[in-house]
Amino acid sequence: MTSPIAHFNGAWLPLDEIRVSPLDRGFIFGDGVYEVIPVYGGAPLHAREHFQRLQRSCDEIRLRNPHSVDEWIALTMKLLESHPGDQSVYVHVTRGVPTKRDHVIPTDLKPTVFMMSYPLASPSREQVDGGVACTTGEDFRWTKNHIKSISLLGNVLARQASVEAGAVETIMLRDGFLTEASASNVFVVKNGVVLAAPRDNLILLGITYELLARLARDGAIQLEVRPVAEAEVRGADEIWLSSSTKEVLAVTTLDGKPVGGGKPGPLFRRMHALYQDYKSKLGRKDAVAA
Ligand code: PDD
Repeated sequence: MTSPIAHFNGAWLPLDEIRVSPLDRGFIFGDGVYEVIPVYGGAPLHAREHFQRLQRSCDEIRLRNPHSVDEWIALTMKLLESHPGDQSVYVHVTRGVPTKRDHVIPTDLKPTVFMMSYPLASPSREQVDGGVACTTGEDFRWTKNHIKSISLLGNVLARQASVEAGAVETIMLRDGFLTEASASNVFVVKNGVVLAAPRDNLILLGITYELLARLARDGAIQLEVRPVAEAEVRGADEIWLSSSTKEVLAVTTLDGKPVGGGKPGPLFRRMHALYQDYKSKLGRKDAVAA
């Protein structure tokens, strides 16, 4: 099989021909940021919002973003020429390659840019209709989770713990309050009201989180963004996960116990339908521009 075309520092190469220096600060320190953009039928959904978030991540770590939002979108569209259909575009920028290992940030480095695309792994019909299992765990990560950092060790360990327990994600709690899941945001439903953790430094503010917030507003679903206590998570009628690849997915067991009635709930079904409707009505140009 031929290796798929990827982008590396301005060149278009088969993925398996790309070579990264061992001194790259991404390799040595996890010093970089990334994005994952879902692509439906060739149209990257909310590309502009994803690249605006990439800019915010760069600003937070004082990394000079090598491209404007429009340049990033052009690179994405070029990458997609050799990746038709539904895809995940992965975008990765590190601080670059210094001459020696030193924590101090050199002033004159050229960032390393890497982009690849692979088929989108959407949730299965079974997962959408039946929901998924999650475990809970203490959020032992740092306190700058609003940065979409490539240093994902905390998320990796949290996700691994859930998978080893037969679940898909760990829903994380910090000091008795919900933050997010190992690779997605979390919504909790109680008595017809949807609750979401605050847009602060303790979570990655998902592009999908913001879309669900807009869909809730337009669909007259009551959404409260505020600290969500552990007891509210454990006593929820419904729990949802959201991310670019999962869209919105119902959690039907938490630590082995049923959530609500143990089946995807009515508000989940409504939100899932609103999401699918939004996607199908969004034209190609609007999807990219959003
Ligand atoms: N993850 N929180 C975390 C920790 C995440 O890793 C993600 C997404 C989200 C949701 O963000 P968005 O809705 O913008 O995808 C929240 C991506 C998909 C990943 O790392 O693969």
